[in-house]
Amino acid sequence: MCGIVGYLGTKPAAPVLLQGLKRLEYRGYDSAGIALLHRGALYAVKQKGKVGELERKIEEIEKGGATKRVGCAAAESRIGIGHTRWATHGAPSPQNAHPHLFGKFAIVHNGIIENFAALKESCLLRGEKFSSETDSEVIAHLLAQNDCGDLLQTLQKTAALLEGSFAIAVISLNAPDAIAVCRNKSPLIVGRGKEGLYAASDIPALASSADEIFPLSDGEFALLQGETIKFFDKTGEIDKKPLALSLRADLPNLCGFSHYMRKEMSEIPAAIASSLQKIEVDFRFSHFCEVLCQTEYLQIVACGTAYHSGIAAKYAVEALARIPVEVRVASEYRYCDPIVKKNTLAIAVSQSGETADTLAAAQLAKEKGAYLLAVTNAPYSSLTEIADFHLETGAGREIGVAATKSFNAQLAALYFLALSLAKAKGKAADFSALQTLPALSEEVLSDIEKIKQFAPVFAAAKSVYFIGRGADYCAALEGSLKLKEISYLPSEGYPAGELKHGTLALVEKGTPVVAIITQKKFAEKTMNAVCEVYARGGRVLLITSLAEYAARKEVEQSFLIPRCEELFSPILSVIPLQALAYYTALERGNDPDKPRNLAKSVTVE
Ligand code: F6R
Repeated sequence: MCGIVGYLGTKPAAPVLLQGLKRLEYRGYDSAGIALLHRGALYAVKQKGKVGELERKIEEIEKGGATKRVGCAAAESRIGIGHTRWATHGAPSPQNAHPHLFGKFAIVHNGIIENFAALKESCLLRGEKFSSETDSEVIAHLLAQNDCGDLLQTLQKTAALLEGSFAIAVISLNAPDAIAVCRNKSPLIVGRGKEGLYAASDIPALASSADEIFPLSDGEFALLQGETIKFFDKTGEIDKKPLALSLRADLPNLCGFSHYMRKEMSEIPAAIASSLQKIEVDFRFSHFCEVLCQTEYLQIVACGTAYHSGIAAKYAVEALARIPVEVRVASEYRYCDPIVKKNTLAIAVSQSGETADTLAAAQLAKEKGAYLLAVTNAPYSSLTEIADFHLETGAGREIGVAATKSFNAQLAALYFLALSLAKAKGKAADFSALQTLPALSEEVLSDIEKIKQFAPVFAAAKSVYFIGRGADYCAALEGSLKLKEISYLPSEGYPAGELKHGTLALVEKGTPVVAIITQKKFAEKTMNAVCEVYARGGRVLLITSLAEYAARKEVEQSFLIPRCEELFSPILSVIPLQALAYYTALERGNDPDKPRNLAKSVTVE
């Protein structure tokens, strides 16, 4: 979480930093700040809230005119660093906003310094004063203590004292034309363009300015100075090749939609089609089919929405290929000494490829002997770096914090994998069932505005429950997560048969319950749960591909989706659930693209 940027070049730095920060806002938006070096002094401007608030503050400062030195720096400085924060240590406030300044240094940090308490204690004993509650501020103090006059060496000495995860950018009065950066378990790239040198947490921040991008690996440092970039690891200076990526096409655009979430839902058919296309090519030209032939066990590690796609994959793989699948929340897997049997294929699913828990779980599975497959939506990421093989989903960039099209794309990729495993095991595998999914999802979307009418009931609810069996249970989990994260309503996704074992006690007159029924063999069973809800006064919204159930008296409202191969149905049934969350969030006056307390890329534990 948190996004960091750095710039030095020929243009005023403040607008470049602000533009980069805006494109990193998906990483956190609790506060934002920039630090500038100008005429032998360091200046910081910080603001609670989103980058737009910081931008307004800087505009006001600039209007103050050249009489104010900070206004002058904001207008003229050619070198600076910036940060957009997702709060870990210390509340969102201007004091806790980065950059942190101490002595001759200003720093921005993404990650968590795990030994900060001991380090801070030793600084306090030296009589140093802290102005924030963050773990990060200690880095600025340590830089001042280790100051040897050389910016890179000072950072190297300081980084050696830090435990935890960090991507750091530093500017210093010692080197008015340089930015030093380093990385350990938090993403960091540097770039070179016609108008300067850049550092950032992620590629979109540099998409319209850098011509070349160089990713840093853990333990590496870079010194951006004048017009050159030098890279270092523990052996000394190293060579680095730029990524072979097209950088210009990746700029965000709402294309007439009011929110990215809604726009991204409209892109689901293309995301599914492009994922299937990419994955087919990846399979055709690789050794991966041989790995599948040998695979006897599957372990899927992921977080949040990606974890739900893992659950959908479990139902599909076990049914089609008859291979046992264990799906684990990555933050649990990494600390539970997991058992990895011979011929295990571990699959790490992550939209961003940067989720700290997923990375650690994937690394562990690999160390324990599993073959590691990464399923990500990023052409380059920390996860793709450590994976033995990578399947890139074709969702395109996703800006809304709540995952939508990337989930459907993950499902498409994982269903393709399930069929490929079935084929490798000599079982029936009808790939044509996948080819219909883009058109069927288009059909669901053509009706989607109907969901809007249900939003007022949900928006007024105390709590909401989602139920389903088999693959429908996976849709229930994801529908519930979407609703809670953007509408802030307490909600639970439950296996329909499990409701009566406790959760039914929470259903009272008027409680909205969403039931999902797309699998014939489970339909009557799920209807039993619907009847139990109805008998207690619950109001049932049914999402179904089986029209006959929509007519049942226990169902108050329904939304029909087209039929598809039943195992794959979450790829369609989740669309009305995403829409329900979206319209409920709007009804409650929330910004669905930037839910409170959350960030899109969770690069800390
Ligand atoms: C929910 C959501 C999160 C992510 C989770 C994992 O809408 O987006 O639950 O799915 O943080 O992120 P990735 O897939 O980037 O590893």
